[in-house]
Amino acid sequence: MRTTVGIVGGGPAGLLLARLLHRAGIASVVLESRDRGYVERRQRAGILEQPTVDALRAAGAGARMDREGLVHDGIELRFGGRGHRIDFPGLTGGRRVMVYAQTEVVKDLIALQLAEGGPLLFGAEALAVTGADTDTPAVRFRHEGREQVLTCDYVVGCDGFHGVARDAVPEGVRTTYERTYPYSWLGILADAPPVYEELVYAHSPRGFALASMRSTSVSRLYLQVPNGTDPADWPDARIWDELDARFALDAAPGWRLERGPVTAKSVLPMRSSVTEPMRYGRVLLAGDAAHIVPPTGAKGLNLAAADVIVLARALAARYATGSTELLDTYSATALRRVWRAEHFSYFMTTTLHTDPAQSAFDTRLQLSELDRIAASPHAAAELADNYTGLAFGG
Ligand code: FAD
Ligand code: DHB
Repeated sequence: MRTTVGIVGGGPAGLLLARLLHRAGIASVVLESRDRGYVERRQRAGILEQPTVDALRAAGAGARMDREGLVHDGIELRFGGRGHRIDFPGLTGGRRVMVYAQTEVVKDLIALQLAEGGPLLFGAEALAVTGADTDTPAVRFRHEGREQVLTCDYVVGCDGFHGVARDAVPEGVRTTYERTYPYSWLGILADAPPVYEELVYAHSPRGFALASMRSTSVSRLYLQVPNGTDPADWPDARIWDELDARFALDAAPGWRLERGPVTAKSVLPMRSSVTEPMRYGRVLLAGDAAHIVPPTGAKGLNLAAADVIVLARALAARYATGSTELLDTYSATALRRVWRAEHFSYFMTTTLHTDPAQSAFDTRLQLSELDRIAASPHAAAELADNYTGLAFGG
């Protein structure tokens, strides 16, 4: 098999890249190891920042998002028993976010790709990416029981944190920067209407909690739990009781969340990781294949989209003019945004969670930081600017 751009991984990064390349008249093949149903059902992120929304529209994948997505103009930070709203448009010159699940983004992109894009092979597991330093990099993969080779002009590794494309960058060239956190999230989906119109990020003496949603009838809720937590130790009633306690407001004693059947429950560990560079020869990395963030602040999916927007522009320039200038600067351009998001995600995580080893002094510092954001438009604007998505090059 031969194509112009071989894309390893059919998650949001790989699928959006394939779409953007298709719009630019560049052929690609997407290899996805899982089956379609698995990829479409995998529960993950839920918040799209403004540049991601704009890119999905530009890729022709915005119609259902614009019909069914929920536009949010702010979030609430809750701490010390009180809530403080952060108004996004007012602080950022009009930017907002969209609540539209990753599962839905992926479904829309897959449907478009199958209807009018290049090949998208499910059950096609990449075994290795070879020839990064040649003019014909290739992907060796297994599909329908047979080993095959996809030869390309460029290979893009969009195969997530556990993928194989990263290994195409030789060990001596590659550096990984990492941080782990002493807590995880227990996440649930519940058939219960969200009680808040906007997301609530709660700092409490019992640990962090987040109230999000997937629609006007489905809630997505998260609790900070110790690493190694078994979801079986958290029967539904325990989860709801704990959520009630962590979201408690001094002004509303006895208040409780609206409960409903819990339809999914899982524990997510947290990690920050960046692998540099994001390009070696004719192999480029994008999304979780190159970096991951802890989920607080909802940057993972948005960073994956930002990478492929930059990359699609670089590949389009390469085929329109022959110039590789934007491809040559891809890694540096993408990494600037990556490190900004790494810092923001780290900041949101460490400011809102309770480290089991933290002292009363540390807690006072967290509360002072949160109080500053609540009291100062400058500090709030910094949060809003990062949350809604920095402009490209900004
Ligand atoms: P992925 O979505 O991981 O896609 C990679 C694709 O490559 C997958 O489909 C995989 O099957 C495929 N693949 C892997 N190896 C191979 C191979 N060898 N050959 C072929 N295909 C391969 N972000 C948030 O902002 N908020 C959240 O709440 C949130 N929750 C998350 C929960 C979990 C459990 C995880 C893992 C991530 C979560 N994230 C969240 C992060 C966000 O979902 C990711 O950043 C986003 O999915 C990145 O997209 P991607 O396309 O780069 O990678
Ligand atoms: C969601 C996840 C996040 O990490 C976040 O910061 C906000 C919302 C979500 O899954 O809805």
